Amino acid sequence: MRVFHLSAECYPVAKVGGLADVVGALPKYQNQLGLQAAVVMPFYDRKFTKENEFEVVFQATELLGMQRFYFEILKEKTDKLGFELYLVKIPGLLDRENVYSYPDETQQFIAFQIAFLDWITWSQQTPDLIHCHDHHSGLVPFLLQHSKLYSRLANTPTVFTIHNGQYHGAFGWDKLSLLPEIDLTKTGLLDWNGAINPLAAAVKCCWKYTTVSPNYLEELTYSSNGLEYLFYIERAKGVGIVNGIDTDIWNPQTDPMIPQKYPVSKLASGKQKNKAILCERFELSSDKPLISFIGRLVVEKGADLLAGAIKSTIQAHPGEINFFILGAGDVKTQEELLVLKKQFPKQCNVFIGYDESLAHLVYAGSDFLLMPSRVEPCGLNQLYALRYGTVPVVRTTGGLKDTVIDFGDEGGYGIRFLNASVSDMIHAIGRSAELYANTSQLQLLRKRMMALDFSWDRSAKEYVNLYESLKPAI
Ligand code: ADP
Ligand code: GLC
Repeated sequence: MRVFHLSAECYPVAKVGGLADVVGALPKYQNQLGLQAAVVMPFYDRKFTKENEFEVVFQATELLGMQRFYFEILKEKTDKLGFELYLVKIPGLLDRENVYSYPDETQQFIAFQIAFLDWITWSQQTPDLIHCHDHHSGLVPFLLQHSKLYSRLANTPTVFTIHNGQYHGAFGWDKLSLLPEIDLTKTGLLDWNGAINPLAAAVKCCWKYTTVSPNYLEELTYSSNGLEYLFYIERAKGVGIVNGIDTDIWNPQTDPMIPQKYPVSKLASGKQKNKAILCERFELSSDKPLISFIGRLVVEKGADLLAGAIKSTIQAHPGEINFFILGAGDVKTQEELLVLKKQFPKQCNVFIGYDESLAHLVYAGSDFLLMPSRVEPCGLNQLYALRYGTVPVVRTTGGLKDTVIDFGDEGGYGIRFLNASVSDMIHAIGRSAELYANTSQLQLLRKRMMALDFSWDRSAKEYVNLYESLKPAI
């Protein structure tokens, strides 16, 4: 079965968050199961595209509203990522450095989808199934069925994965003319709340939608930024499949990005060496428990609560617990954290920015990883933490609820708290410090978490089973 994954991100080509990690790993694992899975994404002007070789496999012009644009489909020559990688290059529109946040983002992603559909309609590259990820490719299921331009592929099954239901990519009806010729009796399928809503359109028109954890599937019916009713009525079409991790990349025994590699048997000394290097670099003492946060500094991740919880903890327990933050995002949160660093330089350090290898060192060198997320469809950080023997301290929500069991419960290994609030975080941090002081229990839990299997093997199979269930209709 030939499957095209359509996505705005894919590691290592272009990564903003977990979407990239998923799209960079899932197809590889699917190919190991005998599928022919490929990734199609926009061409960005980045390190990966500069340093690798591509061949043009298709070129054409298409219309975006009244404007004709030229595009190329480039294929990475070696398939070294474990799957075929195709990039949609649209000079002047979709060949810039950043993935998101351009004022003409709507035009960028509509053009991306038009180019993709045009390519598969007119080339020999006919997929058996199209797997779209998030709203950036959310119009594809609708266009396949309701634009006569693509009628050759109208019966191609589509699967749509929701990595984040907070973002819909909605735009006004005044931009309808940017879409290719569609059946105007079907425009209701594009609509939600008076706007064209790609996420809603995808949920309505795809054959099956998936969420990145089973718990998130339920959560969307009462918390999805205005789409609750849609998720409620379309519930039967949804399947929750928890994300996996790429254990080739995230493996403390072989990880080239960490200075001291360690198998489970050398866990304590391996972690301590990485911790010492991390702490030396950020001027923290390595004999205190180290609690870290990695991620986008946004409200969704509860990042606005960090400064308050850290400050109260340090004031209540001076010199006892250290903190490290790696992230970038909301300016106010960044500033609050930098103030904290100035105020308590020996107990809290902050790195504002994005740094892939530093993230690996933080997973390896920290004792605890804090995730006070308000919304967490799956979360990969806690899975990486588990793999590196770092105790996840998480809010009970979304995929965090599906993947972390509190150590107070049978078979547990992490720390959970109920509310995204400073007081709940302070309490959870207190439990972390107590656990740290109990060396033998901590060691036991670390071994337990490192033995867990969150690799893609299992989840990739679940996706393949889902594809197979759509096959008889092909
Ligand atoms: P989300 O996709 O919502 O941001 P996930 O937990 O699914 O959250 O994935 C986040 C991914 O991005 C992880 O691989 C994490 O290590 C990485 N990451 C987030 N922020 C940073 C950062 N500032 N530097 C390096 N890696 C980061
Ligand atoms: C989104 C979610 C995150 C999830 C990731 C990959 O960015 O916020 O929870 O892990 O997608 O599916």
